[in-house]
Amino acid sequence: MEKMKIGVVGCGLMGSGIAEVAIRTGYDTTVREMTPELLAKGQGRIEKSLQTAVERGKLAAAQRDEARARLRLTTSLEDLAGCDLVIEAATENPQLKKELFASLDRLCKPTAILASNTSSIPIIELASATKRQDRVVGIHFFNPVPVMKLVEVVRTIVSAEATVSAARAFAESLGKRPIVAKDRAGFVVNVLLVPYLLDAVRLLERGIATKEDIDEGMRLGCGHPMGPLQLLDFVGIDTTYYIAEIMFDEFKDPHYAAPTLLKQMTIAGLHGRKTGRGFYDYPG
Ligand code: CAA
Repeated sequence: MEKMKIGVVGCGLMGSGIAEVAIRTGYDTTVREMTPELLAKGQGRIEKSLQTAVERGKLAAAQRDEARARLRLTTSLEDLAGCDLVIEAATENPQLKKELFASLDRLCKPTAILASNTSSIPIIELASATKRQDRVVGIHFFNPVPVMKLVEVVRTIVSAEATVSAARAFAESLGKRPIVAKDRAGFVVNVLLVPYLLDAVRLLERGIATKEDIDEGMRLGCGHPMGPLQLLDFVGIDTTYYIAEIMFDEFKDPHYAAPTLLKQMTIAGLHGRKTGRGFYDYPG
């Protein structure tokens, strides 16, 4: 298992986290981003997180150096051709992801497993862009990837048992706890989490409470580490908006309809921590 070569498509918040845990576990990992600028940004995120781990005594400097040496960065999808497992962690856009799966299917060896870290898109839609539907599976991580223990493994109606087992074993090898879900938009966690987050935005829109009090309510009243609006800033306003759109499209249930405020913040570029401003400000 440890010898598998891992590919990660996308080096944003999730892709960089996935690459980091993979190299820390001992996997040779190639990460592909669209542009050198995005790649440099993702690399910076990985470097910073490795450095923090060293400073907090969780990782020896020598282990950090070994982990770094296992990381390859590229802007070329072709460089993933030799991988045994490719995890796509691109923007939550069904068309873009389908095109990526079609290209990966052409490039990668027939035995390679193609996985998606999508939060909401049914995996079968991505599998249908390939000629290896039995070797396509969901492997959904949570943010921040190095910290959150859960991985959702998503089994489609045509995923081979061996593919699901390999995905579970991979998650376990990273020190994660996999749960297996059927291939329905949102799987387990987002079906529960997204309506909650959207309801928090609706509370704010209706002026029921201030953002601070909404967050404090859930932190102190329910013991959540972050309130819902803080969590929205953390996950990304735009990402949550896209997830909500996909889930609303799938279920036609108003619970999943994105509130106007979320849509407008997405359009305005108030995407949360990553852009420095969302419901809260993040100077620097
Ligand atoms: N990388 C590595 N380690 C990190 C980290 C990161 N980005 N952020 C925090 N940590 C580690 C810290 O090193 C620290 O470890 P130690 O206690 O061992 O030193 C620990 O996590 C706690 O960190 P902090 O003390 O700095 O901060 P905190 O106590 O406020 O915790 C948090 C930060 C872990 C992010 C916590 O606030 C939390 O759990 N928030 C909720 C996160 C959550 O719900 N994520 C899921 C979002 S949904 C999703 O991702 C899926 C989707 O599809 C939308």
